[in-house]
Amino acid sequence: MDVLGATPTRNLALELARVTEAAAMLAGRFMGRGDKEAADQAAVNAMRLVLSSVDMNGIIVIGEGEKDKAPMLFNGEMVGNGLSPDVDVAVDPVDGTRPLAFGRSNSLAMVALAPRGTMFNPGPFLYMNKMAVGPEARGVINIEKSITENLKAIAKAKGKHIEDLTTIILDRPRHDEMIAEIRKAGARIRQIPDGDVAAALMAAMPDSGVDVLLGIGGTPEGVITACAMRAMGGEIQGKLYARDEDELRRGREAGYDFDKVLTMHDLVSSDDVFFAATGITDGELLQGVRYYGNHITTESLVVRGLTGTIRHIHATHSTDKLDHLSSLHY
Ligand code: FBP
Repeated sequence: MDVLGATPTRNLALELARVTEAAAMLAGRFMGRGDKEAADQAAVNAMRLVLSSVDMNGIIVIGEGEKDKAPMLFNGEMVGNGLSPDVDVAVDPVDGTRPLAFGRSNSLAMVALAPRGTMFNPGPFLYMNKMAVGPEARGVINIEKSITENLKAIAKAKGKHIEDLTTIILDRPRHDEMIAEIRKAGARIRQIPDGDVAAALMAAMPDSGVDVLLGIGGTPEGVITACAMRAMGGEIQGKLYARDEDELRRGREAGYDFDKVLTMHDLVSSDDVFFAATGITDGELLQGVRYYGNHITTESLVVRGLTGTIRHIHATHSTDKLDHLSSLHY
């Protein structure tokens, strides 16, 4: 996408922060109101409008679903102002619609970009088994091996005992066996209600208190995580997961291999990626949106794969000025 040379090239992630900030500010208004759809729609509207101002010729590879079911930001929709570069776009306007609707922590607005044709397209196959670690344990995990073997390898790479490791896993009945094995191996466990992208990013951050994300979550979220991991120096591996025999059969007929390990390269095959996330509700990774009458504050994480630059952006937005300039009502 970029031409390497003496002059620094454009960092689209900074523009993406405007996209996720707008989504978070509008979706955040719905915190605790019990209406997941309205919150998601507000984020989608904001994201779509601001994406249209970004200099790029984007196609949504990971979106809100198929055209008929999702009125906007559907898979295959073109976004951006049509100028170069040609990119694949992954959006998750609200990761954690339930926590947002019920006023719980860790919901985020997220967008990732990668050069055209480099993002894994999961089609309708929504779940994958994931293992994600930070830079110190990159290269030592293998999702084909047992949880115990992986925990031993991660502990060794991080100079810890297994008992010192903290795993993080979505609180779902499908993880009962995995949790039993983690307990047997002796590692600590944090079970979270939602939000496995934030959980994977925490595993990649120093001093977050989390060492490894394990378990089955969304495939779209897995691709977005891989984009962020490219910049953060961590690693995610996955394997598509079929919920039943029928899904497995349909997946195989569509050409998906449920036995294949999806490496970072399979999930996004370029380092030239951009990722931005803005906190909607308060979380450990990012503070949520705060509303102050005539201004709003946001906190975003902005990363660029090519340079490995990770930025935290605290922004103060003037609602008076924005409402005057934009068709969105903040
Ligand atoms: P959404 O809010 O976008 O639906 O996703 C929340 C989430 O917790 C993801 O972070 C995770 O990957 C996925 O849902 C897990 O799916 P499920 O809730 O069906 O177990």
